[in-house]
Amino acid sequence: MSGEYQKTYEASINNPDKFWDEAASQIQWFKPYDSVLDDSSKPFYKWFTGGKMNTCYNALDYHVENGRADQTALIYDSPVTGTQKKYTYAELRDNVALFAGALKNNGVTKGDTVIIYMPMIPEAAIAMLACARLGAVHSVVFGGFASNELAIRIDDAKPKLMISASCGIEGKKVIEYKPLLDRAFNIATHKPEKIIIFQREQATATLNEGRDLDWNDAVNNAQPSECVHVDATDPLYILYTSGTTGMPKGVVRDNGGHAVALKWSMQYIYGVNPGDVFWAASDVGWVVGHSYIVYAPLLHGCTTILFEGKPVGTPDPGVFWRIISEHNVKVLFTAPTAFRAIKKEDPSGEYLKKYNIENFKYLFLAGERLDPDTYHWASDLLKVPVIDHWWQTETGWPVAANCMGIEPLPIKAGSPTKPVPGYNVEIIDPDGNVLPNGNEGIVVIKLPLPPGTLPTLWKNDERYKESYLDMYDGYYFTGDGGFYDEDGYLYIMGRIDDVINVAGHRLSTGSMEEVISQHPDVAECAVIGAADDFKGQMPVGFVVLKQGSTKEASEIENELIGMVRDSIGAVASFKKALIVKRLPKTRSGKILRGTMRDIADKKDYRVPSTIDDPSILNEIEQALDTSGG
Ligand code: COA
Ligand code: AMP
Repeated sequence: MSGEYQKTYEASINNPDKFWDEAASQIQWFKPYDSVLDDSSKPFYKWFTGGKMNTCYNALDYHVENGRADQTALIYDSPVTGTQKKYTYAELRDNVALFAGALKNNGVTKGDTVIIYMPMIPEAAIAMLACARLGAVHSVVFGGFASNELAIRIDDAKPKLMISASCGIEGKKVIEYKPLLDRAFNIATHKPEKIIIFQREQATATLNEGRDLDWNDAVNNAQPSECVHVDATDPLYILYTSGTTGMPKGVVRDNGGHAVALKWSMQYIYGVNPGDVFWAASDVGWVVGHSYIVYAPLLHGCTTILFEGKPVGTPDPGVFWRIISEHNVKVLFTAPTAFRAIKKEDPSGEYLKKYNIENFKYLFLAGERLDPDTYHWASDLLKVPVIDHWWQTETGWPVAANCMGIEPLPIKAGSPTKPVPGYNVEIIDPDGNVLPNGNEGIVVIKLPLPPGTLPTLWKNDERYKESYLDMYDGYYFTGDGGFYDEDGYLYIMGRIDDVINVAGHRLSTGSMEEVISQHPDVAECAVIGAADDFKGQMPVGFVVLKQGSTKEASEIENELIGMVRDSIGAVASFKKALIVKRLPKTRSGKILRGTMRDIADKKDYRVPSTIDDPSILNEIEQALDTSGG
């Protein structure tokens, strides 16, 4: 080991101003910043105050003007529609500039919010970059969320305009977006003035006169628009993520710090160079899609891949290898669940034999814990470093990783290695004392967080403080539990709040409980995330019925499953609601969700001394056994 990691890490923590000032020289500034880290209003920190720049300029125009005009910027590969399309940097810039002109014609200016509800098509990235070009703040809502979730986001973000498509394609299913959009529009109190809809040939949306506009018509009437100068601290986007209640948190991302951190991460974490092909197999609706399908690869002058398909079934478990081989991918980033899906269908990796992937260098996995089985399977099959790395929507880029561009460290299965430069990660006990290595506790990050991380929640400084900063003075609370081992490797063991991870998708059990409790027969309920071999976790609901309820348990279960699907979306994967007589509680009435989770996961558990009636735990065990797990 050269010690390069340790040197870089210490430099970032001991002198963040110098460290990030150097990194910022890789970004084009219209006006230089006055300070690197502005800590004048602690606990709120700002990066690069006084600086003016434009994220879209850095992602597109700069490369067009500096020798990359004819390099492929984006490859759209869609096995579900049988299409592929490539955009050079010049073509992508022109498309984005024109669509920005269309947005401008429809009244969008700097500081306005725009909701994007789109499937994995190039127009989704074009829409995001066009907002960035104008200094408008986009908020992408994942296509798997239902109308109610979309409406909640409309009311919080208050978009001037929305951008959508006629449909998404999920494997073999065509999902029409227009009915979902119309329903969300009706539920929401805030009414966006316009909706621009991209018509796909798989389904045509009927447009509402006066409100809806065809994407092509909007573009045909537009002139290309230039990049607007924005402050480094101006918001680039809002991305809603699950918290512990039904009201998602609007994570804000700034422009300057984000561009600096993402560009740095491409070279030093992912080990890629400008011109390389980088593929994040995720969705633009998640933070991985924002950071590593759209912004980071383009900021770094790479070719990015926008994949509309699944790891299996589109058409087979060889599709990842086909794409790596066909497009000469150097680095793939996806969630472990995608690899578990491939492993299930092709355990001996037969499909890989059909493809030459000799230029493939690294597989990065994140979004959920990388279980050692999946790690070993992927690493034995691909014979490249398989890098677990840990981060969150809030941080926007990795907190812990094995930094391939600094110094590859020995890999330990089950650990995302060590904190990335910029992040001072500590493990503390509930009283805030720092724990020695080897002890599991609460994972926190010492303030200030590095550039690119959330400066606050959308129009809600108070909730930002309450959710992340107020628990432990001087720290950001991650919501995860974990420990350091004797070599200083970090292990992330799972959430210690009511957030769960299902197939790499972050969901709130609290929001599912809110839906279930609206059922007329339900007296009370608790939803937990139970371990699942395929999706990592699956939600399981425990429901106590009101006295006098006469419906069959199976009927109620189906109704509850339908309600969650209808209200939150199919992505919630809520498939199990067990009727029980009572919920286990402490004497003060707190539901013992942790104990229920341990029972569901078949772990040895201690009966809490505060439990009101221990016999209820047997009932929970029986309900799970009868339901098959
Ligand atoms: N629009 C509409 N519906 C969607 C959707 C979208 N964008 N994404 C998912 N859904 C639906 C699915 O069709 C499924 O519906 P069903 O209950 O009718 O079958 C449901 O939501 C659950 O989806 P998911 O949990 O993703 O399960 P899946 O069986 O469809 O796919 C994987 C499982 C592992 C193949 C898939 O989740 C995957 O590729 N994940 C890894 C990559 C990733 O996106 N990670 C996120 C962060 S890195
Ligand atoms: P999201 O905001 O959707 O990215 O989800 C963030 C959460 O996913 C984290 O707080 C962790 O609980 C979990 N997570 C993400 N990456 C990892 C990882 N590599 N190992 C363990 N948990 C992870």
